[in-house]
Amino acid sequence: MDQVKFRQMKDGDKEDYAFLDDLEREYCQGTADRLLDALEQLDKSLSGYQVTRLGHSVQSATRAWFDGADTDWIVGALLHDIGDIYAPQNHDEYAATILKPFLREQVTWCVRTHGDFQLVYFGEHVGADPDKREAHRGSIYFDDCAEFCERWDQSSFDPDYPSKPLGFFADMVREVFDRPAYDPAVLQPGARVPLTNGALAETRKA
Ligand SMILES: [Fe+2]
Ligand SMILES: [Fe+2]
Repeated sequence: MDQVKFRQMKDGDKEDYAFLDDLEREYCQGTADRLLDALEQLDKSLSGYQVTRLGHSVQSATRAWFDGADTDWIVGALLHDIGDIYAPQNHDEYAATILKPFLREQVTWCVRTHGDFQLVYFGEHVGADPDKREAHRGSIYFDDCAEFCERWDQSSFDPDYPSKPLGFFADMVREVFDRPAYDPAVLQPGARVPLTNGALAETRKA
């Protein structure tokens, strides 16, 4: 069998769907590498900054790495702007949707809301509300997202920063997307892991 028998989903049988299920499982194993390819595409998006969006992404992730952050935070930092390719108007939600099944809820929440939080830095210059983040004040993750933006996102537009290459993060991305989707042990709803770890940061010094 190399194709299903049906032309309408409702006509498929158990054999058809078992066949598709196997192919889907195989396809899902390539998610990490497709995302790494997509990050390469970010090199061509949004001109005018002193770094490309790919440069910004690896710089954010490198800052997280040197802060001693865990894999969830690093991969969240690396992919937080991946939505810029197809959803520039809601890139934060788009990225969070990709990450949601595979990262700690805390990290996904910060990626989803970072667009609102970032306005505190430039909202006044573009006619937007700099305090838009206040709508999220009741969340247990509010301070985490404020720190995420301050330490890793708004700071990562420096062309002279010694960012690691994208390949440095490839195995971390693969590890994350190899996790079983929606595993409660990964999502850890309500858990708050600090963004920084001084002891680990010491071991990662350049
Ligand atoms: Fe962003
Ligand atoms: Fe960003």
